[in-house]
Amino acid sequence: MTLEGRRALVTGGNRGVGLEVVRQLRDLGTEVTLGSRNAATGATAAAGIGDGITWVELDVADPASVARAREQVGAVDILINNAGIYPRGRTSANDVERAWQVNFLGAWRVHQAFVGALRERGWGRIVNVSTGLAAGAAEREGGGVYPETKVALNALTRALAEELAGTGVLVNAISPGWCRTDMGGEKAPRSAEQGAASIVWGVTLPDDGPTGGFYYDGEPLPW
Ligand SMILES: NC(=O)c1ccc[n+]([C@@H]2O[C@H](COP(=O)([O-])OP(=O)(O)OC[C@H]3O[C@@H](n4cnc5c(N)ncnc54)[C@H](OP(=O)(O)O)[C@@H]3O)[C@@H](O)[C@H]2O)c1
Repeated sequence: MTLEGRRALVTGGNRGVGLEVVRQLRDLGTEVTLGSRNAATGATAAAGIGDGITWVELDVADPASVARAREQVGAVDILINNAGIYPRGRTSANDVERAWQVNFLGAWRVHQAFVGALRERGWGRIVNVSTGLAAGAAEREGGGVYPETKVALNALTRALAEELAGTGVLVNAISPGWCRTDMGGEKAPRSAEQGAASIVWGVTLPDDGPTGGFYYDGEPLPW
């Protein structure tokens, strides 16, 4: 599938799975904007990939930053809500609030900022980056705030898909799997490239492809 001429925004695109998603979308012919909450790391990451990548300062937990990024980037066809944090161990109230701000509200906030233009363009692909730890929510045990935020992100994905039904915009939640990134650690079995491919699958879906689903490597995951 060619994505030639399509415009994409990837949040948390400066490292890890997000950076690989930026690279793979660029290789498919997309004009990609790499979102980074830190301007310096965003500029360095974009320069590291090379031609065709622009970057924007974007802290998904900060409404003013999201509004500024929306102004600067303009309309996009592809939105990858990838930014995420995983507080571990004994979490403070601040950690819990922060996780909801980034993993759940951050995705919702960026979606709200960009969805109007996606709807008007009549074609779009949105991927909310989830995790296998959120699968089978009814039987799930432990794991703390991180999977909780992603279970909610999955539910949000389904609601947004319903809202966008018939508009040409497909929205899915996708897990990259356990990947070797700062978050996943070096013992993870998958590379960031493999994780990114799982996510980019949601962008290359045909127009009659699924929406409101939860996937991993193109296969459905249990809710
Ligand atoms: N790695 C795994 O095994 C794994 C498994 C399942 C799901 N995931 C999901 O995959 C996504 C990417 O994970 P990863 O492994 O690449 O993580 P990572 O290496 O820790 O990178 C996280 C990215 O999110 C950004 N970020 C954090 N807070 C942000 C904020 N407020 N605004 C904008 N960006 C923010 C980080 O930016 P800074 O550089 O500025 O901190 C960084 O670019 C996450 O949603 C994660 O939950 C990962």
